[in-house]
Amino acid sequence: MLQDQKVSFSGVQPSGNLTIGNYLGAIRNFSTFSEQYKCFYCVVDSHAITVRQVPADLRRRTYETLALYMACGLDPEKNTLYVQSQVSAHAELAWMLNCFTMFGELSRMTQFKDKSAKHADNINAGLFTYPVLMAADILLYQTDVVPVGIDQKQHVELCRDIATRFNALYPDTFTIPEPIMASSGKKIMSLADPTKKMSKSDENTNAVVYILDDKDTIIRKFKRAVTDSDTVVRYAEGKDGINNLMTIYSCYTGKEFDEIEREFDGRGYGDFKLAVGEACADALAPVQARFRELMADKAYLEEMMKKGAAEASYYARKTLSKVQRKLGFVQLK
Ligand code: TYM
Repeated sequence: MLQDQKVSFSGVQPSGNLTIGNYLGAIRNFSTFSEQYKCFYCVVDSHAITVRQVPADLRRRTYETLALYMACGLDPEKNTLYVQSQVSAHAELAWMLNCFTMFGELSRMTQFKDKSAKHADNINAGLFTYPVLMAADILLYQTDVVPVGIDQKQHVELCRDIATRFNALYPDTFTIPEPIMASSGKKIMSLADPTKKMSKSDENTNAVVYILDDKDTIIRKFKRAVTDSDTVVRYAEGKDGINNLMTIYSCYTGKEFDEIEREFDGRGYGDFKLAVGEACADALAPVQARFRELMADKAYLEEMMKKGAAEASYYARKTLSKVQRKLGFVQLK
């Protein structure tokens, strides 16, 4: 990393099939930093075990998520792509930061409240301290920007608070990171209930468009998307379903909302839904083709994992030993 080169860091959990929410809200934006920033994009498998996973599925999805990063345009020569559990510094720094994070702060995290309601039989300590591991991920690389969807903003803000607190006690330890959210696409909503975020863990698969869905499935899901009893394609309060579809269409076509309103003036929702489905399916087709090629070559993916983990460890260890020194841990040469 050059002295004055800025750093981008983000992560995605391999905890389910990735959705167009993950794509439009996060992954698609990762590559915007690849040219000028030093970029670290991680498959956060350690985060995924805060809820129960089937081991074989977690393993498969870890490969898939790495392959999707690349299929979505992240070049492993320009970005450090790696798997979180393969860089042990994440777990080590998380422990240290646990000692600088308050119980009250973690209790206020909305994702913890939601997830503990959903997994009431398994409210484990890892689910509670999840944002501390996320702070460790980010702070290990002296990160400047964190491209995320809006649902992760609160966690990045907590990370900033932890880093600021640590720096006040031990000056100049961490760079304070900024969350960066896409102007549109930062919150893609469920197709079945457009007041709710589209989520990879949704049990209703019709509510969610997966990056790997085929064209027919994508079109069928958009056709069934919940809208309203009005017939005019217009971005307005109370039209959550249409607002969401307009956002998705705008993300894929680059068109502004007023342009979309003019395009569908006098045409019904049926036409509009079909156009959204087609735009989405056409944009995903090359991603899917590249994904299939990559998944057919596991040895290559493993080689990339090794390379990524070695690169990430090099930078992560530097920050970790700085923190250990500041805390007073004895370091042997
Ligand atoms: P995860 O795996 O839930 O989601 C990955 C990324 O996708 C974004 N996202 C969305 N954006 C727009 N609309 C949606 N419907 C939507 N659903 C998901 C998320 O905001 C996220 O950016 N805790 C994180 C993973 C993580 C991380 C990190 C992120 C671990 N360590 C460090 C950044 C930095 C998570 O569970 O994301």
